[in-house]
Amino acid sequence: MTRPLDPATREALVERMRFYRDLGLTDFYRRPVDAALTTDADAPDPASEPLASSHHPAEVGAPGLASETWDSSPQPSFLAEEPAISARKGFSPPPQIAAAVPAAGRAAALQLIRDDIGDCTRCALHQGRNKLVFADGDPNARLMFVGEGPGADEDAQGLPFVGRAGQLLNNMIAAMGLRREQVFIANVVKCRPPGNRTPEPEEANTCLPFLFRQIDVVRPEVLVALGATAATYLLGARQPLAGLRGRVHSVRGARLIVTYHPAYLLRDPRQKKEAWADLQIAMRELGLEPSSRA
Ligand code: URA
Repeated sequence: MTRPLDPATREALVERMRFYRDLGLTDFYRRPVDAALTTDADAPDPASEPLASSHHPAEVGAPGLASETWDSSPQPSFLAEEPAISARKGFSPPPQIAAAVPAAGRAAALQLIRDDIGDCTRCALHQGRNKLVFADGDPNARLMFVGEGPGADEDAQGLPFVGRAGQLLNNMIAAMGLRREQVFIANVVKCRPPGNRTPEPEEANTCLPFLFRQIDVVRPEVLVALGATAATYLLGARQPLAGLRGRVHSVRGARLIVTYHPAYLLRDPRQKKEAWADLQIAMRELGLEPSSRA
């Protein structure tokens, strides 16, 4: 019989999975459990027990990039809440890049996209939505940030990155010598996923055409993908974040830099140095000096 995890262990496992996901590590294997090591006399035979329903986090296999040791057991519930970790769906080809909109018409063109989205019910995320989060910033920005999806603060205010992660993003932007009003900020999904979980592929793919349209209107010279979800959907391929950082990709006519999500940096501030190295690549691409004001 499957026993529920106690809340503290469950939270620790979820945090661990988020941590790995933010690093771009998405594949896991399960280490066989030695029945002699379990102290619980009632514990079922591990061979017949669904994955990790009662295991300590340390017993969940380390993330790996090879595929030969995949466990095909049913997913535990905490993994079901992180569908992007296990989802291995194909990506549809991105739509053609739209014709350029003159700078003076970009605000109106963005408003048209917002009007097209309307009071959206295209995916299940609308059910928990308070406010749809379209975007924020300069329609003529040279630099655009793309996050994953709104959190609680964003859902309440209808603006992207206004919570704790947003504060950190503002600081990152300031460190680049820019003001938030000078950049454009949007997300892969425009409605808050329940409990801030990763958007389901179906949700992300439903919303993605609107993000592509936003990019086509703003025409940023440089895009910064904040975290694995943004990188995955912008590039149309799931790859470990570690392999995507440190180089310049090309997406919809823009140069794309991949870095850590600010929420991940709040959990592991030691990685801020790495994120700063990524932002310096973006600055170099924009011809910005660390102290300059664009
Ligand atoms: N995290 C995101 O990915 N986007 C937001 O807008 C806020 C937090």
